[in-house]
Amino acid sequence: MNKAKFITFEGVDGAGKSTHLNWFAETLRQRGLDVLVTREPGGTPLGERLRDILLNQPMHAETEALLMFAARLEHIEQVIKPALKRGTWVVSDRFSDASFAYQGGGRGVPLDKLEQLEHWVHADLQPDLTLLFDIPVEVARQRLSNNVTLDRFEQEKGAFFEKVRQAYLDRCKKNPQRFALINAAQSPEKVKADLERIVSSI
Ligand SMILES: Nc1ncnc2c1ncn2[C@@H]1O[C@H](COP(=O)(O)OP(=O)(O)OP(=O)(O)O)[C@@H](O)[C@H]1O
Ligand SMILES: [Mg+2]
Repeated sequence: MNKAKFITFEGVDGAGKSTHLNWFAETLRQRGLDVLVTREPGGTPLGERLRDILLNQPMHAETEALLMFAARLEHIEQVIKPALKRGTWVVSDRFSDASFAYQGGGRGVPLDKLEQLEHWVHADLQPDLTLLFDIPVEVARQRLSNNVTLDRFEQEKGAFFEKVRQAYLDRCKKNPQRFALINAAQSPEKVKADLERIVSSI
């Protein structure tokens, strides 16, 4: 049997990650695979408490980076590694690329500090595949405009999301073998067709 895989969904707020993630996981299950769907920040009881703080409480950019990686360590040790070990595939709505994009690109935390945290927290683990939902910032913002409440990140200005998008694209360029770039501005049907092609090649 093939080794269980760790797959992550990334992209700016409003790109369509959550919309497509459950469908994607279901497609894998139809192939007879055991699949666990999870998210960051979060994925554990402590992680979900940290998520609530991270999404609502103003803080220093580097505090934000540290808390993201603290929640991530818990997520990796309690959820991701045990699942992969027992043969369950893991599909996560965001992982470390989001820290490079939001805390790095968006907030300006130096890249070398984030690389140190990444090395500390998961030197021995990287996603097997990362789906980057790439979309022009205005289109993503438009999609979020129906939301009644916006969290601390979603409230940021367009310029912040331009930097986040660019940092994601930089990560993608540095790790082309791990990333699949998806044009998330397309209709949901077209996005699904792209995901279907990706699933069939896994
Ligand atoms: N391809 C698409 N075309 C048009 N609208 C879409 C598309 N994909 C998702 N949407 C809509 O855009 C909104 C945001 O989508 P979704 O919540 O999946 O984004 P997200 O990437 O998970 O955002 P966040 O990072 O804030 O959780 C939702 O209202 C969703 O229905
Ligand atoms: Mg979402």
